Amino acid sequence: MNIVYLGHAGFLVETEKTVIIMDPWVSKFGAFDCSWFQFPCNHHMDGFIIDKIKNTAKSVYLYISHEHKDHFDAAFLKRLNGMKFRYIIPEFRRTELFDLVSSLTDQEIILCGDNRKVCLNGEDEYVKIYTNDSELNRDSAILYACNGQKFFNMNDCKISDRIETIKQEEGNIRAFACQFSGATWHPVCYDYPPKKYAQVSTKKKLSKFESVALAIERVAPDIYIPSAGPAVFLDPKLIEINFQPHNTFPRNPEVIKFLNKRLKTSKPMLLDLVPGDSIGMGDVIDVAYTDKARVREAEFRNYVLNYASRYTALFEERITAFSEDELSGIVRRLVHEFSDKLDNFPLRIKIQRPLYIEFHDYPDIRIKIDFQSNHVGRTFEKPYGDYYMIKTYSYDIKRVLDGLLTWEDYALTFRMQLNREPDVYQVLMQGFLLLEKEDMNHFCEKILSIQNRTERIVVEVGGCRYSVDRYCPHEGGDLKQAWSEEGRYLVCSRHRWYFDLEDGGICNTNSATINAIPLEEN
Ligand code: FES
Repeated sequence: MNIVYLGHAGFLVETEKTVIIMDPWVSKFGAFDCSWFQFPCNHHMDGFIIDKIKNTAKSVYLYISHEHKDHFDAAFLKRLNGMKFRYIIPEFRRTELFDLVSSLTDQEIILCGDNRKVCLNGEDEYVKIYTNDSELNRDSAILYACNGQKFFNMNDCKISDRIETIKQEEGNIRAFACQFSGATWHPVCYDYPPKKYAQVSTKKKLSKFESVALAIERVAPDIYIPSAGPAVFLDPKLIEINFQPHNTFPRNPEVIKFLNKRLKTSKPMLLDLVPGDSIGMGDVIDVAYTDKARVREAEFRNYVLNYASRYTALFEERITAFSEDELSGIVRRLVHEFSDKLDNFPLRIKIQRPLYIEFHDYPDIRIKIDFQSNHVGRTFEKPYGDYYMIKTYSYDIKRVLDGLLTWEDYALTFRMQLNREPDVYQVLMQGFLLLEKEDMNHFCEKILSIQNRTERIVVEVGGCRYSVDRYCPHEGGDLKQAWSEEGRYLVCSRHRWYFDLEDGGICNTNSATINAIPLEEN
């Protein structure tokens, strides 16, 4: 088995009869409305992939893990039309990914359900897809096996609580790749004072590193490949994020340094790969590094500034000023959009605080979404008490209303500023903001079904045994796979919520609880 790293979450894996291309993201326009760009730049890998497909007599498959644009590169996939290969994609409850891929191509698409084995050339060569289909996350991981060699690419799929089962089923896994950096708007878009921002970022970063370490211990591979991020941000409005001393976008050397210290047993080779590097997995592991795309840490700032300078005109063109009529039209459509979302949101009454939207470029306009009274409209009232606030640019919102971006894509552009009082995460607010109206009903059903699960488990933390809910109140992660920290917290392995067992199992960032009951005197 030979694995070539394509950059970000992309790999090209080749065996005797097969080539599997995974999540090739090589677009020169990055992703999420040109807010994320590949680091290091991998635009040159498009030719390598195309040559491979055109010039091989082997069976070629192209796997897309999910529809996020840093995995699903529609512009590049269009260029592959007419070439000989088959798609392998996960089967989700919603057919969006299937619809998107079908709209691009008439190539054969193999739809693969969760934990289903698809044999490629006899029983000894297969792929298995593992899905996380929970509305707020729709993602998948892939395991490719060929004659006993196995590569498990978990990318950014939140299935860490299933690793133990996967390992029991699959046995020896030689190569493992997963995400180690952040990819959400918290805390990067939140209007925190610098000290708090640094604290929140550092805590999130380290807990993500810890979850990678635990995943490595459970998989026990020969090699670990840090992948699926971080991107770099080239828009002048975002570029400073790259240079913050503390954030949730660490690069390979930092996680490798952490893992080198943290992993005592089962330490695999920790590979710092750049696009074009390859790994031969024979009796011995043979890594061929190319220095073509490597960026030394000391060169990072200049590298990013040079990279960004190629896009100056593009970012200037994005900025649009609207006439009064155009602006009223945008506001009207936005009110309509949120009213529609509210109508499709059966749990709206559970959100106590209002949501405000303000425009940086038109500070006189403020829209209020009142979940309690089911009303959306313009307001002159200043936010007070408990509230959630988004400050954004009118032209960014227009792109969502025009259907160029989904709400989730918009959130991943990071081109907004967020405020919440108090600073407490609410899964329902998150769902309301990020989901399309078609997903809302199912999302609410899912939340209710998680709340109705009553199974309990016993965990031992800080030398004390507690009875706790087995399933995490966030998205139902199995707390049997949680880990403990600081002698009092139980940490869910999926998104790393911390539950304080000395305080009844309350989450330390919101009011969710796993109803912890001590089984002996503390
Ligand atoms: S499922 Fe998200 S933190 Fe537990």
